[in-house]
Amino acid sequence: MGKLIWKPGTMIYPLPAVMVSCGADPGEFNIITISWTGTICSDPAMCYISVRPERHSYGIIKKNGAYVINLTTKSLAFATDWCGVKSGVKYNKFTEMGLTPVMASKINAPMIKESPVNIECKVRDIIELGSHHMFISDVVAVNAEEELIDKETGVFRLNDAVPLCYSHGKYYETGKLIGKFGFSVEKKKK
Ligand SMILES: Cc1cc2nc3c(=O)[nH]c(=O)nc-3n(C[C@H](O)[C@H](O)[C@H](O)COP(=O)(O)O)c2cc1C
Repeated sequence: MGKLIWKPGTMIYPLPAVMVSCGADPGEFNIITISWTGTICSDPAMCYISVRPERHSYGIIKKNGAYVINLTTKSLAFATDWCGVKSGVKYNKFTEMGLTPVMASKINAPMIKESPVNIECKVRDIIELGSHHMFISDVVAVNAEEELIDKETGVFRLNDAVPLCYSHGKYYETGKLIGKFGFSVEKKKK
């Protein structure tokens, strides 16, 4: 069996499907689901989102230079999909999905309270790539759900919230632990 050679396409999967919230005041608040996102630098902490200019959220993020990446979980799967198929032109997505906006600590944008991790991002640069424009951003604050922090060890247990991932048009919950960083070179205890 060989490999088929396909034309260039978007084939890096699985990916997260995050809810990006934006807007300087309640009348402008919006949520857009984004899969073209990722970390691009550790120090300074930086990340990106790529957004089509025709999205309602595009102009809001560009004007304010700010947005929040809200990580999603199994219980947020419905809202994640809905915010990715409906436009803020017609709907208040916070109200429709029963999500709670809480103003971010360092930027002019709302966070989604129900998400376990809210990453506050300040836009540094916009690269017009083609179908999508890439917002390259500094992470200026991270808000983590206290209930997921182990009281004894201080370890953040994001996996307890069952993070969502997206692959070839489908959503999956993450699950079984199969190793930890460096396990391939770890010496076995005698
Ligand atoms: C799983 C998923 C991932 C998506 N990823 C992106 C993305 O990375 N960039 C983008 O511009 N739109 C993406 N979309 C589409 C937008 O979320 C969608 O067009 C949304 O309705 C735009 O909302 P708005 O017009 O209120 O900004 C995605 C949709 C879904 C369901």
